[in-house]
Parts: sequence; structure tokens; C-alpha cells
Amino acid sequence: MTPVDRAADLRQTLARARHDGGRIGFVPTMGALHAGHARLIARARDECDTVVVSLFVNPLQFDRTDDLERYPRTLEADTALCSSLGTDVLFVPAAGEMYPAEPLCRIDVGRLGAHLCGARRPGHFGGVALVVMKLFQMVGPDRAYFGEKDAQQLAIIRRLVRDFDVPVEVVGVPTVREADGLALSSRNRRLSADERERAPALHRALLEAARLIDAGQTDAGAIVAEARAEVPEDGDLRVEYLEIVDPDELQPVQRITGPVLVAGALWVGHTRLIDNLSCTPPAARP
Ligand code: PAF
Repeated sequence: MTPVDRAADLRQTLARARHDGGRIGFVPTMGALHAGHARLIARARDECDTVVVSLFVNPLQFDRTDDLERYPRTLEADTALCSSLGTDVLFVPAAGEMYPAEPLCRIDVGRLGAHLCGARRPGHFGGVALVVMKLFQMVGPDRAYFGEKDAQQLAIIRRLVRDFDVPVEVVGVPTVREADGLALSSRNRRLSADERERAPALHRALLEAARLIDAGQTDAGAIVAEARAEVPEDGDLRVEYLEIVDPDELQPVQRITGPVLVAGALWVGHTRLIDNLSCTPPAARP
């Protein structure tokens, strides 16, 4: 595995791979890797000739400085995991390499950022879109792999690629879960033992919404109200949002007549967790 911290060296290394005609697979991450990331890297390894993983905690996508400062950093373990999974090139740029100057040109993700996390984290998706666009320019991948846990991010990146004609295939990879349903996340390692025990409440709420949709209920407001009741809210557990939106435009749905995304964010102590499920009502199934 070749570790690289400069974009110029990355381009040079990949020029060779590209010259040989191989397919380049790219897994962008912010490090603190877990089995969900491992699934992305393994998929890239299966489908591509050269696998590039980036580790960069992107300051532009943090709306709170305490969240940026507390974001877990585990470079040694991340490097070992990438190597064990057959990564060819590990790109670990410093902030000054990614942003040698304050970027003036920004990306506005429009209505795709108006709901769900976008409504609660001002500037977050603009920051994600900007860094992903820069990474795509530096790596030039044929395929790029993203987790479905970050469903809004995935929808925005699909649109970004379309709007800017980026020649990359975006591949969504299913969420990896613990046995009790908790979606894997780098933020899970911040949970205390008690918080960890309570954290699957979000997944239970999503499952309840999915069950109601499956049973033929179509009133999104009523479904959300019943699903929220699955979370015993108190000082330590607080639902930030639970919403039902259409899966492409991410706009709220009142009456469920086609496929929807049920998505939520839950505060567990000082840690914010997100999760989602895709659901298709019985009336819209083939
Ligand atoms: O999903 C993430 O880890 C980040 O948002 C990403 C895509 C690497 C951009 O910083």
C-alpha cells in the first residue's frame, strides 16, 4: 500500500494505474474506520483494479467546532485496516493540502439540503459537496463508494455528479448494523456503556415506521407520531427529527403512495446519531 499526502504525488501514482487501463475505485472517508467502511473498501476491492482510500477530517463540513475537535482520529488503526483490506493507495492530506487558501467558490446543494440533516446543520452539505468534488478532481475515480447510512449525503453526491458531469459511477453500499440494529458509525465510539444500550431506540423507531407503511398506513404524520413513541425521550435521549421524504428529491411526503425514505437523528447524551430505512408501500410494489 502506498501512503500519499500530496495531491501531486497522488495524481502521479494514479496516472500509472490509469495508463495500464485499470478501473480505479475510490472510498472517501474521514477516518475512524469501522466495519461499515471495511464493507465499502471490500466492495471497491472486488470491483476495481486499483483501490484508493482517503482519510481527511474535513473542517468545512462541521457546523460545530466542538464536534470537529471531538471527532475520533485513529490513523494507525485506519492505516492497518486499509492495508489488510488490500488498499493500493492511502491518501492522507493535511488541511493545508486540501485548502491551501480559503475556497471562494462554494457549492449550494439547493433543496436537497433543505430538510433532514441539512435543515439542522447549516453549511454541512455544502462542505461535503466541496470536499468530495475536490477529491474527485484529485483521484479521478471510475467508481466511488458511499454508505447508505448517510442517505442525504448519497443523494446529494449523486446529484453533484450529474450536475457537474463528473465521469464517476457512484455506488451506494448498504448500512452495516450491530446485532441490536444500531447502525455502525465513527461516532458510536463516543457513547458510554449506558448510552450504547439506549442508542438502538432510533432504529426501533424506524422499524416501527416501516412496519406501519408495510401494514398499509399512508398518513406520514400519523406514522411519524407512532414511530417517535418508540423513543423514551428524557434528558439523555432526544429525537432531533424523524421525517418521511421522497428518496430522490428528499422533500417531505404527506401521503405515502410510492417509495420513501424514513430518516431520523437522535441525540444520545452529547452524541448525535443518524439512521434511515427505505420503504415501499404495498400498493406501489410490483
Ligand atoms: O461520509 C464521510 O465520511 C464524509 O462526509 C466524506 C464523504 C468523506 C466527505 O468528507
